[in-house]
Amino acid sequence: MSQGNQHQHRNQSQPSRPAQGGRPSTNPYDDADPIRVRRTHHQSIPAPASGAGQGAAQPESARLVPGSAAQRHVQAPRRVEVQRTNAHHPSVEQRRAALRSESAQRTNAQAVPQQRRAPQQAAQAGAGRGAARPASQGKQPAQRPPRHQAPKPTPQQIEAARREELRRQYHEVSPDRAYAPSARRSTERAERQYASQQRRQEKHPDRHVRPRPIPGDDYFRTPDVVFERGTQAQSPVTKRVNHAPAIIACLVALAIVGVVAYAWMHRTVQVTVDDKQVNVVVNSTLEQVLDASGQKVSPGNLVAVTGDVITPSDGHAFSATINGNAVDDDQLASTTVKGGEDIKFGNGDDRTEDYDVVNTTTVQPQLKMEGTEGSVFYVKQWGKTGTIETRKGKQSGKTADVTSVDVQDLIIQRQGIAPDNDQKLVALTFDDGPSQYTDKYLDILDQYGIKATFFELGQQVDEYPDAAKRVVSDGMQLGSHTWDHKQLTKLNEQQVSDELGPSFQKIQDVTGYQTTMLRQPYGSINDKVWLYSKGTMSVSVFWTHDSEDWKVPGVDKLVSNATKDMFTGAIILMHDGGGNRDEDVQALPQIIEAWQNAGYQFVTISDLMKSDPRIPDEVTSGDEQMPSDAVWPTEISKDSTSNAIP
Ligand code: NI
Repeated sequence: MSQGNQHQHRNQSQPSRPAQGGRPSTNPYDDADPIRVRRTHHQSIPAPASGAGQGAAQPESARLVPGSAAQRHVQAPRRVEVQRTNAHHPSVEQRRAALRSESAQRTNAQAVPQQRRAPQQAAQAGAGRGAARPASQGKQPAQRPPRHQAPKPTPQQIEAARREELRRQYHEVSPDRAYAPSARRSTERAERQYASQQRRQEKHPDRHVRPRPIPGDDYFRTPDVVFERGTQAQSPVTKRVNHAPAIIACLVALAIVGVVAYAWMHRTVQVTVDDKQVNVVVNSTLEQVLDASGQKVSPGNLVAVTGDVITPSDGHAFSATINGNAVDDDQLASTTVKGGEDIKFGNGDDRTEDYDVVNTTTVQPQLKMEGTEGSVFYVKQWGKTGTIETRKGKQSGKTADVTSVDVQDLIIQRQGIAPDNDQKLVALTFDDGPSQYTDKYLDILDQYGIKATFFELGQQVDEYPDAAKRVVSDGMQLGSHTWDHKQLTKLNEQQVSDELGPSFQKIQDVTGYQTTMLRQPYGSINDKVWLYSKGTMSVSVFWTHDSEDWKVPGVDKLVSNATKDMFTGAIILMHDGGGNRDEDVQALPQIIEAWQNAGYQFVTISDLMKSDPRIPDEVTSGDEQMPSDAVWPTEISKDSTSNAIP
């Protein structure tokens, strides 16, 4: 072999083999890794057309000493020669090409059946032809063909042959694989990795071989994938799921949420303080709002249970109303604003010293009648007990009786009924029934299609239950007229109870109709009767027009009494019991027509009361019961008005 040949080979093959004793190598393959060294020896970089490197520059050889160890190493035979533009720094494409070629050879050597290796062997033979094999290169594979035997195949030919062989293999093993590139590549990769591990273990039996390729090492990148995709192969390591981006995204999202929440919780809102707009942070306390408004108020004093001042200006700092509602002194510190409130501040209230309750007194309600005129009496307010505490101040030592719960008196209101909205309403009432005449009254009322109110005696309901039932079934209103028509104002407490309770109960037992409405006999009623009623009645009804039918005055007089001086809210008194009622039966149609002709509408007592908005709704029903938390008084208030009907 001539010196020129040596130069030629050196220049065309991998340059700059480890220059033992020579200058430092810059070859990335040139390191102490025996695997990489081995790979470098087997590097089958596809060579360009034969002779292409003859005229190439030889900068490296000029600096190498012929015959030295480095020189001999450079002259080591190569399967494939390649023309490089930069001998010291093989490009990525050159490295990939070398890897492809090596892979092809290895695959052929291990997997290709003997009868199918001919083309590849021919290519290898061509690639390696002409390469001498120095005795110093003991590591060179034994099957390496001699050089100078046949024209070298081009890299394209080698690659084509390798791919054709691969295609035949996988068609043979499994035709489906030809249509499943990913499966085929996966199998190839596994085979290569296995072969790689085998080689490494042969070389270093005592070294632990990782069961998978080293990430980032081109040697373990699959040449086929590099070729197919034109990019780096997917190493198993790169297929690991990387959680870092998701975690970072979550942290960023949490940070954003936190910032938004903080901004929302500290946003500025506007409130109105004494008709001026004030900007404050949301959820500011009233004290903060007061400071922001700049308004000056005076604090209250600390006072004893008796009201005497203990320490001036040691009371509540301020008082406040929000949207017109006063804020309790003990809520001033905890009340915050949301924005939009209308706030008014005032001087602070006095603050009472801490105290002990040494005694408690219950205050009973009293019955108080209000109003002096009118046709109806009704419960305007139910009675409730109050509480008086005897308090002893811890600081002052003084004692005082203080009302802790205000008492609520029972209030009986007397008033006339004044229908609103210019309604012209009148109510017919019939007392002392039921009797044998009641059916005739009901027939007439049905004929005119009007409703009336029947105040029945308990003993009469007991005697004429069917008549009482028809009153109810015909849609009339029903009330009590006591049990047997005694004058209530002349009775004691027990007698009043005996007249009222049983009559209400009798009506309910016979007709199922519940009522707490009374027509007092003779119209006689006073605050004492109400006190004795003990909550069994809610309304007592007087009248405005007395027909005086009990006098049997004749039909014309009877009609005249019932129709004179008409006004809205009138209540006409007639009777369907207590004697001969023939005149009533004759007069009733005339009375009805007279009022109707005057434009009046007949209604029940309940409907008449409902027409007056001053009367509480629960009372107008005529059957209101005393609430469970109410207390019936035992005495009459001195403030009660004198409104008795004797
Ligand atoms: Ni009567």
